[in-house]
Amino acid sequence: MIPLKLTTRNDKGPALLLIHGFPLDHRIWQSQLEKLPFSIRVLAPDLRGCGASPLPPGPCAIDDYARDLLTLMNEQRADKFYVAGHSMGGYIVFSLLRQAPGRILGAAFVSSRALPDTEEARKTRQTVAQRAELEGPGFLADSMPAKAVGDSPAPGVLDTLKTIMSQAQPAGVAAAARAMAGRIDSTPGLARISCPVLVLAGRQDKIIPAAESEAMAKGIPGAKLVWCERSGHVPMLEEADLVTRELAALAK
Ligand code: MLT
Repeated sequence: MIPLKLTTRNDKGPALLLIHGFPLDHRIWQSQLEKLPFSIRVLAPDLRGCGASPLPPGPCAIDDYARDLLTLMNEQRADKFYVAGHSMGGYIVFSLLRQAPGRILGAAFVSSRALPDTEEARKTRQTVAQRAELEGPGFLADSMPAKAVGDSPAPGVLDTLKTIMSQAQPAGVAAAARAMAGRIDSTPGLARISCPVLVLAGRQDKIIPAAESEAMAKGIPGAKLVWCERSGHVPMLEEADLVTRELAALAK
């Protein structure tokens, strides 16, 4: 069992698990941790090798992150729960839906995708993993924030991303890059998802094309697609109140 660092707010009400993306940690959900209604029990862990959570030895896959979270939710006595995953966190939500569909009351995908990596993307992941191991996360902190935001990010958004990314664990970054490269295609399972689903997509996302978000939402029976018109890839920071409102509506 991996002792994941867990940040919570409130210990009553329906549980909402917030899963961060790459190369980030729970602090990406700060606004939601502060502003979600007190009727919801919010749990925001750092994934293994991210933030303040340790990385166990050996390779890890997206399914391993999901297993860690199922164990965490057992420990927290949250048998059934809502879940929101940002980008890589969404890849983990798909794994949770495969591994424990009966435990998921509702799922939100925030700037995420069902498709796997292309061959070219897999090669880039290997380079990212090797560079992170050799140089640390500085090169990502320098290059990724600008790519992650829309045209006019609110003050502080770029700094928040840069701070979190520059503090990422090199080995954890490498492990996550390799895990994402190895993830399976989740599109064949979309039609079988039976819980309420929310797809939140940034209209100005340069990482996940709008057409992909639309196709993913269309593929999931009854899914609600919400466009964050002023956001790039990090709407929980760029349009925090909208994301908070939509997550509150899902988990109420
Ligand atoms: C993320 O935000 O988690 C990553 O951009 C996802 C990815 O690189 O596929």
